[in-house]
Amino acid sequence: MRVEGSVALVTGANRGLGSSFATALLDAGARTVYAGVRDPSSVSDPRLVPIWLDVTDPAQVAAAAESCADVDILVNNAGVMRASPFIAASSIDGARDEMEVNYFGMLTLCRAFAPVLDRNGGGAIVNMLSAASWVTPTATGSYAGSKAAAWALTNGVRVELRSQGTLVVAVHAGFIDTDMAARVHVAKLDPGVVARMVVDALRSDTEEVLADDETRAIKAALPHALETLYPPIQARWDERHPRPPRP
Ligand SMILES: NC(=O)c1ccc[n+]([C@@H]2O[C@H](COP(=O)([O-])OP(=O)(O)OC[C@H]3O[C@@H](n4cnc5c(N)ncnc54)[C@H](OP(=O)(O)O)[C@@H]3O)[C@@H](O)[C@H]2O)c1
Repeated sequence: MRVEGSVALVTGANRGLGSSFATALLDAGARTVYAGVRDPSSVSDPRLVPIWLDVTDPAQVAAAAESCADVDILVNNAGVMRASPFIAASSIDGARDEMEVNYFGMLTLCRAFAPVLDRNGGGAIVNMLSAASWVTPTATGSYAGSKAAAWALTNGVRVELRSQGTLVVAVHAGFIDTDMAARVHVAKLDPGVVARMVVDALRSDTEEVLADDETRAIKAALPHALETLYPPIQARWDERHPRPPRP
């Protein structure tokens, strides 16, 4: 699709990867980029058009679909990670929170903007997923659950919207250098590089972006996930959570 002259809405565009998406779209010639954020005063780039948008609030999503009726690229970027394993977390509050933002938020946005995109000729939806859509790093288990659900959503939405000409792009990545991954001390992707990959994908009508070698390796290993991906995850978990032998 043509990015030049397009009108985009990026959720969570005030910081992290969302801010890089907004910049990359502007640099690629987007005419307008709406920054869908929980606090418009947190948007510092004067080229962006901030709008109130908590993705978990259906009324705000509906209002955004009405006020941003010229959108032809929707970037579902907003996300949370609550670092909650499935069993060891003290409650399932973190898991619920992640599903509310990462899955139900994305679903609500896709549903609200599908008719907008249709009216504007088809356009595109970019859904920010993760390598964790395909493998469960146990310490952030419920985040992986929400990203797996978002991957399923993305595949279904793509099928449902193909006939109206909407390109649906799934973006999977390992660690990216933003606040979300601040506590992780490994090599991380530059968010600007990921954003530019996504702009290239839009331009070439590519439906999936695998942003790094680790993500490509995880996808390739899926048929043998139990034999290859999970033994090191199990070993790390057992080392950090030793259990005394049964009496
Ligand atoms: N960083 C990584 O390693 C990594 C890897 C793969 C995928 N991802 C995904 O990339 C996306 C962007 O993450 P990031 O790394 O940029 O994280 P981040 O630095 O923590 O930024 C998260 C963004 O999401 C927004 N947000 C959270 N809840 C929201 C809500 N209810 N409504 C609207 N906006 C909300 C935040 O807004 P506030 O400022 O208001 O909190 C912020 O702008 C997420 O979907 C994440 O899961 C990240």
